[in-house]
Amino acid sequence: MPILRSVAALRSVVDAWHDAGLRVALVPTMGALHDGHMTLVGRGLQLADRVIASVFVNPTQFGPNEDFAAYPRREAGDAELLAGAGAHALYAPTVDEMYPDGFATTVGVSGLSEGLCGAFRPGHFAGVATVVAKLLLQARPDVALFGEKDYQQLQVIRRMVRDLDIPAAVVGVPTVREADGLAMSSRNAYLTPVERAIAPALFRALTEAAARLAAGAPVAEQEERARVAVLAAGFASVDYLELRDADSLARLDRLDRPGRLLAAARLGKARLLDNIAVSPR
Ligand code: PAF
Repeated sequence: MPILRSVAALRSVVDAWHDAGLRVALVPTMGALHDGHMTLVGRGLQLADRVIASVFVNPTQFGPNEDFAAYPRREAGDAELLAGAGAHALYAPTVDEMYPDGFATTVGVSGLSEGLCGAFRPGHFAGVATVVAKLLLQARPDVALFGEKDYQQLQVIRRMVRDLDIPAAVVGVPTVREADGLAMSSRNAYLTPVERAIAPALFRALTEAAARLAAGAPVAEQEERARVAVLAAGFASVDYLELRDADSLARLDRLDRPGRLLAAARLGKARLLDNIAVSPR
């Protein structure tokens, strides 16, 4: 499986595939790959003839006090996993290739980028939207796959692709979980064994609140009860735990349409995200 370092090398591979009439899928990642990423590759193989994964730890989506330097980087292991999963190429550009001297453009998606993670990570979604726009324009895939674990990110990317007429189909793939329910994430590597045992409480609280909401329980009361359960389990703090409209991410005071219960909570060095669908019965 070739490792491509430049936009030119990436384009020549993808152009040759397109010239041969093949459909191409892109799986954008920041590396430290786990089964969640492998599921994206597998779905890509179902939807397209060729799958490229990108691994790029994108500096512009990290705040000044965040974990850019500490973010796990293991390209050789990632390349092996990708080859084993049947990916056809790895695109791993350098920071200079992605952001050459004088780079001056930012893609911003207003509305969807505000609130939830956007309120706690200023500039994060502009960094994500900018790099994903670049990856999609560099690779020109027919389809691009993203995990639902980062649900707000997925909605931001869907809107950006629609608004900018980027000719790629965006496909969201359900969250892959450990046996105890913890959503797979590269950042789970930050958890100590004690924290790892506490971590599934987030999904448990969301699942229980979703069941009660679906049965008609009041929204504010269930959000609060789930927050209290997460803290009681040992999380240090809850950034947010809220029911939102599944498409627009607008606040939902009543579950009268498809909703999404979304949470971010801090445990040791990790900030864990999770979310689940909630539908009125
Ligand atoms: O979800 C991620 O890993 C990243 O935010 C993405 C989409 C690869 C952009 O850097």
